[in-house]
Amino acid sequence: MSGFLITLEGIDGCGKTTQGRLLQARLEGEAIPHLFVREPGGTPIGEQIRLLLLQKEHSLITDTELLLYLAARAELVNTVIRPALEDGRVVLCDRYYDSTVAYQGYGCGGDGDWIRELNEKITAGLRPRLTFLFDLSVEEALRRRGHEGDRIEERSLSFHRRVRRGYLALAAAEPDRIVIIDAAAPAEQQHELLWSRLEALFSGRPSDEL
Ligand code: TYD
Repeated sequence: MSGFLITLEGIDGCGKTTQGRLLQARLEGEAIPHLFVREPGGTPIGEQIRLLLLQKEHSLITDTELLLYLAARAELVNTVIRPALEDGRVVLCDRYYDSTVAYQGYGCGGDGDWIRELNEKITAGLRPRLTFLFDLSVEEALRRRGHEGDRIEERSLSFHRRVRRGYLALAAAEPDRIVIIDAAAPAEQQHELLWSRLEALFSGRPSDEL
């Protein structure tokens, strides 16, 4: 597969969607063929699953929630991401399997081994080439979100703290893949850092030369 799968991760309100848009504009400016997708969603069925996951009328037990995120991912990976990668495109994905480990594993207390196994199975081992983790305190993220949240955003501060800790543990375990970005830094500075890492990746330069 000749394209690159790049994922953006972080707690709700960390600013990764803004960074995703800046990256998308940069890729467009550089005329690099790409695709920007988000999870859960990005396919007709995935968008419907997204509505079920983020609604607030009904609660979901952790296993239901987990399996719905995975179902949306199965659709996205197989019908959108793989074909785009085979086409040689850069695929930017706003959230991917690290979200499930962080939220349903660390956040909800789900079985981490099972989550990893399921992720591996439905993605057929498709790993991101690079993951940017936008790290921010839970208090600052909440302040930035400001408005009334969806079903996941409205969970307690301690839930979001566990998610953040989960992400940092993932980054510590895979430092070559997961790059931690200080999401409290100015947006333009974060963007330049991301871009320098991506340029190195695209040109095959080792990132420690940066
Ligand atoms: P969204 O509004 O897209 O949030 P954000 O802009 O922060 O990405 O909603 C996605 C929510 O779903 C977000 O709270 C994180 C959560 N989520 C999980 O709990 N598990 C997952 O596997 C994924 C992909 C997302």
